[in-house]
Amino acid sequence: MDSIGSSGLRQGEEALSCSEEGLPGPSESSELVQECLQQFKVTRAQLQQIQASLLGSMEQALRGQASPAPAVRMLPTYVGSTPHGTEQGDFVVLELGATGASLRVLWVTLTGIEGHRVEPRSQEFVIPQEVMLGAGQQLFDFAAHCLSEFLDAQPVNKQGLQLGFSFSFPCHQTGLDRSTLISWTKGFRCSGVEGQDVVQLLRDAIRRQGAYSIDVVAVVNDTVGTMMGCEPGVRPCEVGLVVDTGTNACYMEEARHVAVLDEDRGRVCISVEWGSFSDDGALGPVLTTFDHTLDHESLNPGAQRFEKMIGGLYLGELVRLVLAHLARCGVLFGGCTSPALLSQGSILLEHVAEMEDPSTGAARVHAILQDLGLSPGASDVELVQHVCAAVCTRAAQLCAAALAAVLSCLQHSREQQTLQVAVATGGRVCERHPRFCSVLQGTVMLLAPECDVSFIPSVDGGGRGVAMVTAVAARLAAHRRLLEQTLAPFRLNHDQLAAVQAQMRKAMAKGLRGEASSLRMLPTFVRATPDGSERGDFLALDLGGTNFRVLLVRVTTGVQITSEIYSIPETVAQGSGQQLFDHIVDCIVDFQQKQGLSGQSLPLGFTFSFPCRQLGLDQGILLNWTKGFKASDCEGQDVVSLLREAITRRQAVELNVVAIVNDTVGTMMSCGYEDPRCEIGLIVGTGTNACYMEELRNMAGVPGDSGRMCINMEWGAFGDDGSLAMLSTRFDASVDQASINPGKQRFEKMISGMYLGEIVRHILLHLTSLGVLFRGQQIQRLQTRDIFKTKFLSEIESDSLALRQVRAILEDLGLPLTSDDALMVLEVCQAVSQRAAQLCGAGVAAVVEKIRENRGLEELAVSVGVDGTLYKLHPHFSSLVAATVRELAPRCVVTFLQSEDGSGKGAALVTAVACRLAQLTRV
Ligand code: BG6
Ligand code: GLC
Ligand code: GLC
Repeated sequence: MDSIGSSGLRQGEEALSCSEEGLPGPSESSELVQECLQQFKVTRAQLQQIQASLLGSMEQALRGQASPAPAVRMLPTYVGSTPHGTEQGDFVVLELGATGASLRVLWVTLTGIEGHRVEPRSQEFVIPQEVMLGAGQQLFDFAAHCLSEFLDAQPVNKQGLQLGFSFSFPCHQTGLDRSTLISWTKGFRCSGVEGQDVVQLLRDAIRRQGAYSIDVVAVVNDTVGTMMGCEPGVRPCEVGLVVDTGTNACYMEEARHVAVLDEDRGRVCISVEWGSFSDDGALGPVLTTFDHTLDHESLNPGAQRFEKMIGGLYLGELVRLVLAHLARCGVLFGGCTSPALLSQGSILLEHVAEMEDPSTGAARVHAILQDLGLSPGASDVELVQHVCAAVCTRAAQLCAAALAAVLSCLQHSREQQTLQVAVATGGRVCERHPRFCSVLQGTVMLLAPECDVSFIPSVDGGGRGVAMVTAVAARLAAHRRLLEQTLAPFRLNHDQLAAVQAQMRKAMAKGLRGEASSLRMLPTFVRATPDGSERGDFLALDLGGTNFRVLLVRVTTGVQITSEIYSIPETVAQGSGQQLFDHIVDCIVDFQQKQGLSGQSLPLGFTFSFPCRQLGLDQGILLNWTKGFKASDCEGQDVVSLLREAITRRQAVELNVVAIVNDTVGTMMSCGYEDPRCEIGLIVGTGTNACYMEELRNMAGVPGDSGRMCINMEWGAFGDDGSLAMLSTRFDASVDQASINPGKQRFEKMISGMYLGEIVRHILLHLTSLGVLFRGQQIQRLQTRDIFKTKFLSEIESDSLALRQVRAILEDLGLPLTSDDALMVLEVCQAVSQRAAQLCGAGVAAVVEKIRENRGLEELAVSVGVDGTLYKLHPHFSSLVAATVRELAPRCVVTFLQSEDGSGKGAALVTAVACRLAQLTRV
C-alpha cells in the first residue's frame, strides 16, 4: 500500500509498469476483490452509530459545549427565515468554493411573487492551481477580476450593484455581511485568509480593481443558498444539502436552542459543517486503508475526515487508489499500472459518474481507462464499475446517516412525533451521479423512518438562494440606515447634556429670584427633614400619581401604614372640580369606615402632585393641572379650601387638613426619615419633578435669611420658554400637540411615563411609513393614542426577556412582526428611554451642583429619595440616571434611595412635624 499514489510520476513517463510476480489464479483474484470491496460495505448498525454520534455532537455544539470540542461546528448564519417569495431586484452573485477549482459569477433577477421567473446569466472561471494555493490577496484579486470581466459583458450600470457572496468554507459569521474564515477545506490553501473577514477581503479587492462600485451585502454558505433558492412548496424547505467538491448541510434551528445566540424566539439557519465530523468510535470501523492514504496525501491531513469519504473532490481519488491497488495485486489490467493511474487526481468525479452510468455502458469505461494509459479487458471493465459503485454507494449511505442525524435534531427541536420536511439538494454529486440520490433517499427512509422527507433538487446551483439572502440583507441595511437617521436626534452627547444642565441652573436661579423662568421654584414651607421625634396617628391622601391612595399612618418609634387604592375615573379627573373633590371625600369616608375610624378627626396630610403656590403649609393655590388632570374651576383656587368645602358638603365628616405636600416633597421626607442626608426628592413616574433643600437667603419672596426650605422645582415645565427647542424632535412635537396641555411640561413630556410610550408609538408610525417596519403596512391599532404603554418599554428592555418579550407584547397589540421588526422596536425603546434617563440625570446634576455651591463645598455627599413607576420598573433607567450624574457632577457623591412606602408617609411626617411645632407654640 505504501507505494500507491506516491510513486513520483515524472512528466512524459507514459509506459505501463507490470507486476513481475505471477498473476493470481481466479479464486485468489476473487478473494482479493472481495476483501477490497468488502472494506466499503457499511452495515446498518454502523450507519446508525454514525447517525447517533453525529446527532450527539450536533447537540453538544448547539449547547455551546467547549470541551471536549464537539466533532461538528454548528455555525449560526444570519439567515432567520426561509424566503417569503416577495424579494425583488437585480443581484450579482459570486460563488467561490462550491465547485472545485472554479468560480462562478451570476446575474440574478428576482421578480417577487407576481413576476415571471427570469433565468440567471452566469459565467464560470477556472481558478489556476497557483492561485488556489497562493497568497489570499491574489485569490481575491482574481475574483474581482472575474467579476469585472463578467459585468463588462452585461448591459448593466457600473454603480450601486449589490452582491451576494457564496463562500463555501467554514466561517464564523457575526452579521449577514461579516464572516471570518475558520480554515480552508477542499483544495484551497491561500495564505493570510484564515482568521480574516472574507467580505472585507473581497471589498478591498473590488476597490483595488476599481472598475465597478459593488456593495458586498451578504455572505452565504452554499448549503444556505441551496435551501433559500428552493421554491416554496407545500411544506417549507428547511434543510439544504450539498454534495459537491465537499459536503455539508444547513437547517433551520430554533434560536433558543443555540447557546451562542442571545435570542429566544424565531429560528436561525445553522451550517452543520459535518465534513469535519470525525469520531473515532463511530467512523473508525468504517475507514478503509484507502481513506487513510487519501487523507495522508491531501492538503489537510487529519481534517475533514467525513467529507473525504463523501465529497466529489475525493470520490475519484478513492476509486483511483482502489484500482491501482487491484492492478498491483494483479487482479486488474493484467497486473499493469500506468503513470496516470498512479498520479493523484487523474480520476475525476465526472469519470466515476460516467463509468457507473448504465446508459453510457462499458464503452465509456473502456475509453476512460484507455485515456489513463491502461488496456482494460472485458472483466476489468466490469470490476471497475463495481469499484465505482462500492465507493459511491458508501458515500451516499454515509451522507444519508448524516442527513438522518440532522432530521432527528430538527425533530427533537420541534418536538414533533413525525417530521414533515423538504430538503433542497444541490451540488454535482447529487445532480450528476446516477444513483447517489436514490441510495441517499432510500437510506434516509431506513434510518429516519419517522420523518416524511421530500427531496427538491436546487435550480441554478443555489445562486438564486444567494440572491434571495442578498435581497433581504440589502433591505435590512437600507432599513438600518433609516432607523439610525430617525433615532440620531435621541442620542445626546456629553456637550448636549452639559448644556441642559447649564440651562437648568440658569432657570433655577431666575426662578428663585422671582424672575420669568420656566422653573417656578415653589417654596413648600417644609423647613426640615424629620428628626425621629414625631409621634401620632395621621391620615394621608396621595393624589396625582398612577394611583389615588388614602392612608392611615401610625408614627411611633417606626412607621406603620395601612392604605387603600381608589380609582379616579378619567371623567372625574377631567370633569368639574366639585365632582373631583366630592369623589375624594367619598373615598376618605369609605376608608374611615373600613378602618373603624369614623367620627375621629385625625390630622391629615395631603400629597397633591401638581404645581401649587403655597402660602403656608396648609394652603396651596393650584397653578395649573398637569399630567392627565383637567378638572374645571380648580386652577387659581386653594386646594385645601376645595377639599374642606367638599368635607362640609358631605356633612357628618370631620377632617383636620394640616398640610399640603407635593409628591417630591413627600418622597424626600419619607426617605429622609431613614437617611438624614436625603435632601432631594425625585419623581419619575406618570410625571417627573424634583424638590431640594435651598438656602432661604437665595429665595425672593420668602421671609427670613437663615436656614433652608424645600423648593418644589416643578421641573416638568422646564423648557416651556422654548429653551429645549434644540433637543425637541418631530416626535416630541407630535406628542405635545396631541396632549391636553400643548406647549406645556415639555421636559416632562420627554422624560416621564405618561409620554414615553407615545413617543415610541409616533416613531413606530414614522418607521412604518418609511417601509422600515411591519413591511410598511399601516396598522390601524398603532394609530390609537396611548396603545403603547410606557410599561411596555420596561418590559421590552428587560434583558432576561429580550426579543421574545418584544414580540409577545407587539403581537398582543395586534402588530404582526418579524424578528427584524422586533429588534428595531427594541432599539427605538432603548433610544427613547435612554434620552429620558440622561435628561433626568442632567437635571439631578444641576440640583446637586447647586447645593454643593450653596454650601461652598469642594465635595458634596447627598442622597436623593426617588419614586415613580418608570424609575422603579425600568431595567436600566436608574443606572443611566446615576451614570449621567457622575459624568456631569463629578464632585458630588450622590446616593439614590428608592422610596418604598410612597409619598403618603412623607405627607404624614410633614403633618406630624407641623402638629409638634403647633403644640410647642401652644405650650
Ligand atoms: C408613588 C407616590 O409611590 O409614586 C406618589 O406615593 C407619586 O405620591 C407616585 O406621585 C409617582 O409615580 P407614578 O408612577 O405613580 O406616577
Ligand atoms: C466544505 C465546506 C462547507 C461547504 C461544503 C460544500 O465542507 O467546509 O462550508 O458547505 O464543503 O461545498
Ligand atoms: C407633574 C406635577 C408635579 C409632580 C410630578 C410628578 O410634573 O406637576 O407637581 O411632582 O408630576 O408626579
